[in-house]
Amino acid sequence: PETGCLSIIVLGASGDLAKKKTFPALYNLYRQGFLQSNEVHIFGYARTKISDDELRNRIRGYLSHGKDSEDVSNFLQLIKYVSGSYDGEEGFRLLDTKIYEQEVSKNTQEGSSRRLFYLALPPSVYPSVSKMIRSFCMNRSDLGGWTRIVVEKPFGKDLDSAEALSSQLGELFEEKQIYRIDHYLGKELVQNLLVLRFANRFFLPLWNRDHIDNIQIVFREDFGTDGRGGYFDEYGIIRDIIQNHLLQVLCLVAMEKPISLKPEHIRDEKVKVLQSVESIADEEVVLGQYDGYKDDSTVSDHSNTPTFATVVLRIHNERWEGVPFILKAGKALNSRKAEIRVQFKEVPGDIFRCKKQGRNEFVIRLQPSEAMYMKLTVKQPGLEMSTIQSELDLSYGQRYQGVAIPEAYERLILDTIRGDQQHFVRRDELKAAWEIFTPLLHKIDRGELKPLPYKPGSRGPAEADELLAKAGYMQTHGY
Ligand code: BG6
Repeated sequence: PETGCLSIIVLGASGDLAKKKTFPALYNLYRQGFLQSNEVHIFGYARTKISDDELRNRIRGYLSHGKDSEDVSNFLQLIKYVSGSYDGEEGFRLLDTKIYEQEVSKNTQEGSSRRLFYLALPPSVYPSVSKMIRSFCMNRSDLGGWTRIVVEKPFGKDLDSAEALSSQLGELFEEKQIYRIDHYLGKELVQNLLVLRFANRFFLPLWNRDHIDNIQIVFREDFGTDGRGGYFDEYGIIRDIIQNHLLQVLCLVAMEKPISLKPEHIRDEKVKVLQSVESIADEEVVLGQYDGYKDDSTVSDHSNTPTFATVVLRIHNERWEGVPFILKAGKALNSRKAEIRVQFKEVPGDIFRCKKQGRNEFVIRLQPSEAMYMKLTVKQPGLEMSTIQSELDLSYGQRYQGVAIPEAYERLILDTIRGDQQHFVRRDELKAAWEIFTPLLHKIDRGELKPLPYKPGSRGPAEADELLAKAGYMQTHGY
């Protein structure tokens, strides 16, 4: 492991993302001993003029483990606050001075000043903030070390705006310094996908168009845009969930085997999948908007923004030709769940005539209650020779009792400190992802495609189930 001063600078420290995700993740890392050296410093930066203690108190409320415990107090003591604007040099010079003071006071040796800038900010300020970091917070070459910057989605709104953002960042930092977070890549069962696919003989021969009929990647939430209507209305469910989270999952489900586990090898394969996705056909899209969405005062009365979408993607390559990948996401639905459902073709010449009971299906539940289960046909126990559908079930809660599954952000932040980019989105991946969805998004933005109404707490518009059936999905028991 590297040694020397590590400074983690959270920009946008008083915002929602920082309070709800970034600081709690840092705290969890601290609690597990990852940030306990006296050479680790955390800085919060934002415009609000508050004291160190005020920031600490705001964060305290979001740390789950015993709010008054010693651990929490010790962690909070690591945090210092600097206030300044996002486009003026004064604040950034001050920030640099404060970081440097720590670096030299810790007798930092050559090559040991490590600075991680976490932009928990809206993308509109990325360009100015990154320029300020580049100009005023990276000139301590006497100390050596590294500078990394972590950015959050939304990375733009369409292909052009995303490319503009990428070029701006690209002029200031090298790709190896930029960590684009998609927190789905930090989820346990998403990280398990490559192991599952490439370390198990079971799956190797079956994972292709010869055996798989269709694949669904589904995200449901049982609450609406609660308090985030203003943000959401500008983006909609495709930009919020499908173009990033679900598409990243699709990459890992569909990609070819990388030549090694090196981040570049993995990301090369992901890009190839994205580049093989065909244009989306209008008739393979169903959009929805839940009743009551526009009651939010921050949402326009004429909003055409979908809060639900089902989109069929088709991958044009040897492995997947003809297999629909159905991506479905919705807010205010009947349950909260994210899962991958791989549905296999029927058994040819089935002597049991058990087709109606359902096909083999392999389900990977990302959340809640991580699990993998296989639906398969077995003989009904008893004297009769009849068949039923049953399950081979690996539920993590049971199998790995007592093992704490890390939060996505915790894992990903640790990766940024370690310099591992495997679970981060590379520039060309991002571009390819926008290429897939931009034409559809523009049609929606122009009002050419309209969302259908659905009741909050329902499965979404019935038309989405029809599209699913058309794409070949066969309903099985318990779904
Ligand atoms: C975020 C979206 O990226 O992911 C939110 O902006 C969504 O709208 C959230 O609620 C879901 O994350 P998770 O980890 O709870 O599935």
